[in-house]
This record gives sequence, structure tokens and C-alpha cells, in this order.
Amino acid sequence: MKKTQLNNKSLYPFEEWSISQDHFDVDSNYIGETIFALGNGYIGMRGTFEEGYTGPKGSSLEGTYINGFYDTYTISYGEVAYGYAEKGQTMLNVTNGKVIRIYIDDEPFDMLRGELVGYKRTLDLKKGILIRDITWRSPKGREVKIVFKRLVSFTHKQLAAIHLDIIPINFDGKITLITALDASVSNLTVENDPRIGSGLKGKSLIAYDRKIHSGYGYIASSTQNTDFKLICGMKNSLEYTNSYSMDEELQDEWVSSIYNIDAFKGQVISLNKYIAYITSLDFEEEDMLSHLDDILEKGENLGFERLCAEQEEYLDKFWYRSNISIDGDMSLQQGLRFNMFHLLQSTGRDGKTNIASKGLTGEGYEGHYFWDTETYILPFFIYNHPDISRQLLVYRYGILDKARERARQMGHKKGALFPWRTIGGEECSPYYPAGTAQYHINADIALAIKKYMDATGDVDFLISYGAEMLFETAILWADLGDFIPEKGNQFCINGVTGPDEYTAIVNNNVYTNMMARENLWYAHEVALWLKQNAEDVYRNLCTKLDIDEKEIGDWKIKGDRMYIPKDKKTGLYPQDDSFFQKAVWNFEQTPKENYPLLLHYHPLVIYRHQVCKQADLVLAMYLLGQYFTQQEKEVNYDYYERITTHDSSLSTCVFSIMANEIGYREKAYKYFMDTARMDLDDYQGNTKDGIHAANMAGTWMCVVNGFAGMRTMDGAIYFNPYIPEGWSGYSFRINYHGTLIEVNINRDEVAYKLLDGERAVIYHKSEKLLLDKGHPSYIYKY
Ligand code: BGC
Repeated sequence: MKKTQLNNKSLYPFEEWSISQDHFDVDSNYIGETIFALGNGYIGMRGTFEEGYTGPKGSSLEGTYINGFYDTYTISYGEVAYGYAEKGQTMLNVTNGKVIRIYIDDEPFDMLRGELVGYKRTLDLKKGILIRDITWRSPKGREVKIVFKRLVSFTHKQLAAIHLDIIPINFDGKITLITALDASVSNLTVENDPRIGSGLKGKSLIAYDRKIHSGYGYIASSTQNTDFKLICGMKNSLEYTNSYSMDEELQDEWVSSIYNIDAFKGQVISLNKYIAYITSLDFEEEDMLSHLDDILEKGENLGFERLCAEQEEYLDKFWYRSNISIDGDMSLQQGLRFNMFHLLQSTGRDGKTNIASKGLTGEGYEGHYFWDTETYILPFFIYNHPDISRQLLVYRYGILDKARERARQMGHKKGALFPWRTIGGEECSPYYPAGTAQYHINADIALAIKKYMDATGDVDFLISYGAEMLFETAILWADLGDFIPEKGNQFCINGVTGPDEYTAIVNNNVYTNMMARENLWYAHEVALWLKQNAEDVYRNLCTKLDIDEKEIGDWKIKGDRMYIPKDKKTGLYPQDDSFFQKAVWNFEQTPKENYPLLLHYHPLVIYRHQVCKQADLVLAMYLLGQYFTQQEKEVNYDYYERITTHDSSLSTCVFSIMANEIGYREKAYKYFMDTARMDLDDYQGNTKDGIHAANMAGTWMCVVNGFAGMRTMDGAIYFNPYIPEGWSGYSFRINYHGTLIEVNINRDEVAYKLLDGERAVIYHKSEKLLLDKGHPSYIYKY
């Protein structure tokens, strides 16, 4: 049932399964383009308008993106040093396939001219379509109803479609539709915010072939530097019983089919437009056109209605496994579902692409993939759609050779160092203190593999991909660290940056050291397991990576002797060796408008102080909670909370989860509120540049790992549920070793139910429960 709640602060009314807007305003247009973006993990289309936009400069960004489709540019440094990243990579803004211009006689349809008599835009999270329903009165007084429906197909990777209905309300006359492909596109260039824009200047995508005929058309383009090819094609079909004629237009960067229609009051004119994107990353160049034709034909044969039905069926399955219901807070409910929907839209699932930190919704961070994937987003997929999480890890395997090369550049004779930010696999961070220095990415990937294995037992993955990545990352840690006499000959890792980007190039960052230790231990454990269970694989890997038993044994020793700085008396962990030797940032004297600090202070000023951009030690306490006592969690949380600005969107979800674990329930709720609607309510002030994908997944973690207290350890899954005061109940589902478990929590009881699969062992607090056909559910009274 759809309910709407009043809402003072948000741009959108609180609805269960949709995001909608019943008036159009220029001020929120830019943000709306991100919110109403559609995608399928491959194609991403911002929620811009088919007819174009004539609002003020800076209030819109026309954007279409293809995951993994990028061009490079030479990074220019004032002063270069050895090993700096040389090339930047930017996910390209590609040919706009959405264009449908409407003219009523000589008057162009434009929402900023004439009068919007009726307007409703809806993103339907169950149907996976975007609908814009408009009644418009032209400046000359002609009234028309216009309904656009748009989808980016979840079931056909390269396909998007638009359905348009136009009904003249008070006139007979000429209506002209121009349905086009527009390749005159380029990316945003660098602005004065390091989070937006790229170093890619001018046009990157150059059109080299084009065609238009009978509603069918395409433009083929090539990137300047990577030499990737893209063909964007369209097939239009008009459904109209009265007369019309057709023209076409062909320019270098524009092809269009033009329908000149004799329109009559009350008679519906319908247009279906199928749009496809084919690239040389998926197909041989010479086969691209025939694949384009195939996919357009498939779209047209299925028809828009069938595509909608497929979209809904796909989403039914998605929500069956991933839905979270919250009774008692519609705003959170909406935020959660919106976030999960966008995660699905953002995620590459072909094993060759990944998740850009802004999804496929904008150009922030140039479309790069970060540790955001493994640390924040992967858990959502591991426990909801393990097949997708596997593909994300397979992507990392695909760039392993480049990570090996990078390790050599960084002075390591063996091992691999994954890039801090990349699309194609090379390190693209031009600012190494907060880029390459974040070696922890290696261990983040290793921990993600461990979690994936814990939840799936996918031995085939371990043998084919996982083990090699674990070994290569372990080799790197073993080479990077040293036994330092001054530190009692413990194994130290110096000169790295932890997750907190307001502190850089430090020795013994606790997060990094603990994560590296986990990486070393797990790689060692897997090596022993392989030796026992798949000796061939073990031997082959030893030969390929030039390692032997002694070296593998050393991983364990180095892990065991890892140096973890800590004040034994207080239980406080310094974030790194020198952290407590710095003055605490003067928060009292920092005006509100100076946040985020990174836009107002030189990095050195920030680095000299105890101030955190985001969870670092607190993140270690969450991910590796088994190594901290409850008292340590408490004192460290209290300490680090005071000095954390949350200037990164990756922070509040971790603080919410840990607040729950410690028992700070109000704080947990407050941080969760900051997380759940971050993009819908534009908390970070930059939703226009794209969604915050890691934070969106953080919302899921806040509920499942935070309020429901889910943890996995040594192959077991634990719950420790709590229900926030304002809620009457909440429920979610977890995939674990091929089973589907529903957890339902209300004010009186907690119920665990086996929905699919044979048998699952879970823990309610410390009590072990066996869910199977004979005993599929357990209920606990509070
Ligand atoms: C954060 C990083 C994150 C990046 C991309 C930065 O602001 O500090 O941790 O990986 O954004 O989301």
C-alpha cells in the first residue's frame, strides 16, 4: 500500500516504493538529475529531460555513462617525482540517446516556458521506470498532455527505451517530434573542488561514422587516447493512426528522425524509442554494428510493455532477496529502498567493470573505483546477491597484472599493489599522500575475499581467482614491512596512509597494520588449505609467484609479530605512531562554513593536527571487532568521535554501527539518519555530482550489522538484534551458503525463518540455532 507522509525538509514526499515530485523547480534540478538517474550497471543516464533544458548555466549536467568506458589524459604535475601516476582516466560522458524534441507548430515544448499545468515525476522502485507526466500550456495557449516513460533495461545490458505519449487537449494542428542521437558531448573539466571534474580537456569522443534511415540511426565514435569504440544506436517507431510524414537529418555529431504529425484533439500519438550502446570492450570492432542491430531489433520485437514487464520481474526477484522493511518510519524506509535500488543500478556485473564511487549517475571522482567497493558495498551484495559480489572480485583479478606492475614501480620485487583509484587498473591518483599511500586497499580486497568465502564457500572462486590475489597481496605486505629494533623487533609498516585522509604518510597506522595482519594470516591459512586439498593449484601458484613454504611460513610469523600501537593503561589506540603527538584541531574556532576542511585548509595544516575526515580506528573496531575488548571499543569510540568531522560520506554509517555495538542507541540512530537519506536530502551538498554509493551500502550495514547486530566469524553468523524506539518492526533477508534467512524483529519478539535452502546454522546472541525443514523458524520473546 502506498502512503504519503508530510515532509518539511525533503524535496520528495515520503513514499514506500517511489521517489516523486509534483512540481518542477530549477533550484533542485541538478540534484534531481542524480536522484532520478537510471542505470543497469552498464548504462547510466542522468535524469535529464528528453526535450533538453534551457535553465541557467550550472543547474544541469546532461550525462550518459558506460561503465568501464573511459579515456586517459596525461596528469600534469608542477614537479614530478619517480613513480607518480602518469595518466588520469575519466569515465566518459557519451552520446546522448535520450533526445526527443517536441514542437507544437513553431513552439518548442520547454518546461521553463509556457505554463506547467500539471507535473509529476516518479521513479518507481518496483517497476524500475521513470515516469514524467506533464500537462503543458504553450505560450500561445495550446494545451497538451505529455507522458514520458524511460527505462534502462536490467535484463538486456546494452538496451534502454523511452515511451512517449502526446495528447493535444485543446487544439488540432501540427506536432513535430525530433528523435535524435547527440554526440556533441564532453566531460566536466577540473573545478576548484578535488572531488569534481577531471583533467580531461575538450572533446574525447570523436564521431567517425553515422547513419539515419527510417527511424533507425547510429553514431559511431572513438576515444582519443584509449582508442575504444562506441556505437550508440536508436530505433524509433511511431504508433499513430492519422497521417504523418518523416524526414531525417544527418550531421557529424547529430542524427535524427523527424516525424511531422497531423495532430487532433484527444488523439494519442505514441512513440517508442529503443536505444543501444555497444562498445569495443565487449565486442570485436567489426562485429559491433551487427550486435547493435540485434539488440535494437530485440528491443523492438519485445516492445516497450514487455520490457517493462521484464524489468518488474527482475526487480521482484531483487526485492525478494534484498528488501528491508521498516514499520514506523517512512522517511527511512524510502531512503533505504532508494539506496538499494541505486546500488543495483550502479554495479558492474560482467567481471570487467566495478562500481564507481558515484555509480553511473555523475562525474564526481571521474567514475573511479575505490576501496569503497570492497569495504562498504560488497557486503550488501555478498549477503543479497553473491553472484554479483563474485563478479566484482573477478574484476579485481582482471587487473592483477597491472597491480603487479605497480608494485614493481613502487620498489617491490614481488607481489601486487592494487591502485587506490582506477577504472582500467592503473593507478590514477595524482595526489599520492591520499592516493597510492593508501596501501590498505590491498588488505581491503583480501578481507572482502575472506567474507565472500565465509558466506558462500565458493571453492571454485578461491582456486581460480581468490588465492592468487590473497598470495600476491600477502607477498606485498611481507615485503613492505620490517622488524624494527626500536619497536621490540615487531613487524612495522611505515610510510602509509590509513582510511582517514586528514592524516597522511604515517608509520604503523593501526587500521592498516591490523588489516595487513589479517591478510597475511588468511593467505597463510588458504595456502595450507590448498596444499592439503588442491596440491596442483598450490604448486602452480608457488611457481607462478616464485614463493616457497618458507616464505609462506613467514607470512604467519610477520602477521603474529605485527606491531599494533596501543596505550595499555587507557586502552586507547593511537591512529598511528605519531597521532597523539599532535595538537587536537581547534574545532571551537572553526566556523561551520569551513567544512569540509579539505576545501578550506592546506593539507599540511590538517595533517599537523588530530582531526579525522572519516572512520579509521573506529572502522578497524567494526571490521576486526574480535581483536578489541568492549572497554577498548568504548574509550576509542569516545575519543575518535570527538575529533571526526565526517567530511567523507564513508564515515557516519561506521559510527552508527559501532554506536549500536557499544550501546549508544541514540547516537546510532542519529548517525543512521545522516546516512539513510544522505542523497535524497543532499546532506553532503554535492548529490548533484552523483550518488554516494558507499554510503548507500552503509545504510544497509547500519540496519543489518548495526541495529540487528549481524556479525560473521569463523564461518558462523551471529545476530544481536535491537529495535529503535520509534519503529514498530523491521525485517530483512540474508543469503548465506545458498540459503535465504528472514530476520523479523518487532517490539515483542525476534523471529528467524528459513525461506530457501536446506539447512542454516545461525546464532541468536550466543545461542546456536539450527534452521532446517523440520524446524524452519525460531521465535524469541524480548
Ligand atoms: C574518501 C575516500 C573514498 C573516496 C571515494 C573520499 O572522500 O575519503 O575514503 O574512497 O572519497 O568515495
